[in-house]
Amino acid sequence: MFRATSKSVFRSALQRRALINSWANVPQGPPDPILGVTEAFKADTNPKKMNLGVGAYRDDNNKPFVLPSVIEAETRVFNNFHDKEYLGITGDPEYNRLAAELAYGADSRPLKEGRVSVSQSISGTGALRIGGVFLSRFFEGKGGKKIYLPTPTWGNHIPIFKDSGLEVVQYKYFDKNTNGLDFAGMVADLEKIPDESVVLFHACAHNPTGVDPTREQWIELSKLAKAKKFTPFFDMAYQGFASGDCDADAFAVRHFVEQGHNILLAQSFSKNMGLYGERVGLFSVVNETAEQQKRTDSQIKILIRPMYSNPPLSGPRIVKGVLSDPKTATQWKSEVKLMADRIISMRTQLRHHLENTYGSKKSWEHVTSQIGMFCYTGMTPDQVERIKKEFSVYLTKDGRISIAGITSGNVEYLAKAIHEVTK
Ligand SMILES: Cc1ncc(COP(=O)(O)O)c(C=O)c1O
Repeated sequence: MFRATSKSVFRSALQRRALINSWANVPQGPPDPILGVTEAFKADTNPKKMNLGVGAYRDDNNKPFVLPSVIEAETRVFNNFHDKEYLGITGDPEYNRLAAELAYGADSRPLKEGRVSVSQSISGTGALRIGGVFLSRFFEGKGGKKIYLPTPTWGNHIPIFKDSGLEVVQYKYFDKNTNGLDFAGMVADLEKIPDESVVLFHACAHNPTGVDPTREQWIELSKLAKAKKFTPFFDMAYQGFASGDCDADAFAVRHFVEQGHNILLAQSFSKNMGLYGERVGLFSVVNETAEQQKRTDSQIKILIRPMYSNPPLSGPRIVKGVLSDPKTATQWKSEVKLMADRIISMRTQLRHHLENTYGSKKSWEHVTSQIGMFCYTGMTPDQVERIKKEFSVYLTKDGRISIAGITSGNVEYLAKAIHEVTK
């Protein structure tokens, strides 16, 4: 029998130490800014505390909302036997068709002509990442391996595209003076960038500002993009959340496609079906021809295979259960409207209390003119710090609040808190 001598014990301890030391120089990374807000919120014992940091819908009792249409579809689908075999690399074809039709419209020409490469993705984030890597490998426009993002944009866009191998450049978007869209600045910046560049647009309910171009402005942007031969990349994480109507919210995407743009698109069912943790999304690319579509498809498969082989099963089964049954689909659309309407009502009440109950002399018009889950309040980092310390109201440093985290029970308290720190 082998008996460890003190020499061999010493040697193996050394070997172990050598292995552990492989990571000795890994630097400490900064915490995620949004998750950091949640940690601080959890530690606060004030019963009036509010977490307005996270972008997840809450009902009027501040509870996570599982949509009844989703529960119905989930129960129906999972009560039937399903095997647990692997999906194909680009996912469930029936799910892909239904999800693409929701975005592009069932009568979309490129869909009918078989020109759209469609792939199930690990939610919106995964779709953006597939798109980033696809661009990094295949984009040949004169603008180079760069992507132009609005300022500000969803924080994760920047690392997603950098990690995909693209250079990130930003264009003007938000006007701090009006808390609205800086359309002139945006157009001027886009006119300056090289022809044949990739430009990312938030399709609706821009995160973090809650400020979208109007339909007329989208039409102008499409003309500009055509003149400059841009490749538009739409991120549509909030379809239905802006207006309560999934078709109306798809206006920009559908208009650009009708105008002949070969767009890339990232979709997510996190918000509009409340499927956050199921990670279900879609990546698609519009091609010029059906023959080109086949080649694009083949390369998307080659990109995905070494990343995660094939996507998960359960999320798309639920989405299919909702979208393929006309009754459930109609119910779901009314629930999306219910969520959007609650958000709109919270905006109206917040503005009302700021202006009327507390008599704030500042302009709060942007609270109701901005749309979607988020409101860029215009609060400075100092004011954000004060509202946290004095009122236990938690939000990101940029002054963004998630309207979905406000309820009828605390909207007046929030108005008082905002008024106190901004007067
Ligand atoms: C603008 C934007 N794009 C994409 C996403 C991706 O979300 P998910 O990966 O949950 O679909 C989010 C989530 O907050 C977002 O705000």
